[in-house]
Amino acid sequence: SEKWVLMVTAQTPTNIAVIKYWGKRDESLILPINDSISVTLDPEHLCTTTTVAVSPSFDQDRMWLNGKEISLSGGRYQRCLREIRSRASDVEDEKKGIKITKKDWENLHVHIASYNNFPTAAGLASSAAGFACLVFSLAKLMNVKEDQGKLSAIARQGSGSACRSLYGGFVKWIMGKHDDGSDSIAVQLADEKHWDDLVIVIAVVSSRQKETSSTSGMRESVETSMLIKHRAKEVVPKRIVDMEEAIKNRDFPSFAHLACADSNQFHAVCLDTCPPIFYMNDTIIGCVEKWNRSEESPQVAYTFDAGPNAVLIARNRKVAASLLQRLLFHFPPSSDADLSSYVIGDKSILQ
Ligand code: PMV
Repeated sequence: SEKWVLMVTAQTPTNIAVIKYWGKRDESLILPINDSISVTLDPEHLCTTTTVAVSPSFDQDRMWLNGKEISLSGGRYQRCLREIRSRASDVEDEKKGIKITKKDWENLHVHIASYNNFPTAAGLASSAAGFACLVFSLAKLMNVKEDQGKLSAIARQGSGSACRSLYGGFVKWIMGKHDDGSDSIAVQLADEKHWDDLVIVIAVVSSRQKETSSTSGMRESVETSMLIKHRAKEVVPKRIVDMEEAIKNRDFPSFAHLACADSNQFHAVCLDTCPPIFYMNDTIIGCVEKWNRSEESPQVAYTFDAGPNAVLIARNRKVAASLLQRLLFHFPPSSDADLSSYVIGDKSILQ
């Protein structure tokens, strides 16, 4: 009899870590072994758009990703749905004559439609944008009255890196101390206007899905790598302090040095894992290192996640233009080179 549908649509950009998260101390709550820092991208280029709908005529929760129905039975989806649902409050839409009470939410089902405007699971942090957007849109639909920090802790349980996509600009994920994860949240270090000279260029080397998921990769690293222990205990804590300082002062040489070193150490941990994991493409690193060395101070920083695609951060637009020229020269799109396209985060850092 009741025919109404209530909908919310939200858009969330992905984020790129410049101090990496790699390794969990608790797999089901997704608690990391170190802090991490990221930059949230411009939503025009790499983002997820999610519409969530509720209606009394829906008889189960369902989800479509890029137009294809996917199962919601996985623990991560279930946890996010449960956490948000348990915090739902009354919703009233007078125009439509809809009134949903806190109690009603327990029996109402949602339909979720999510689109990524970039390749899924190719090391471009699609799950970060995806889970951040899912949690944010469900929280809006269900009138959840929690602050961003709490929402970030819920998104974290979908995908660790997702907690950082709830903010624009520069974001830190604090690992936290508690066993229940309540203090493992993301905070904004600086907003998207703070350092808007930076231009982020993403060289899409391959849209193939990665062979080792970050979940199993991290598990294997934690179980077999000695280097990861040294990294989490001795290296990252100091790098986090230094990176915060570099961001605060818009100090590009320090920023570039720390971002490149941290990406390289993350991939060294991958190599130190048994069996070894290979994600990145080293040709681009060689080009950038050579260029930076030929200048007085670094022009471009590089960082790679769990995939072959390079994220390049140019110190300004002029450098970005030159970077694109060099990429096109070394990897002409029409040739057999495996670099197929370039995505330019023009405004670099914004919400
Ligand atoms: O959140 P996950 O499970 O997709 O892990 C992401 C891990 C890296 O992207 C490699 C690093 C990071 O901090 O984003």
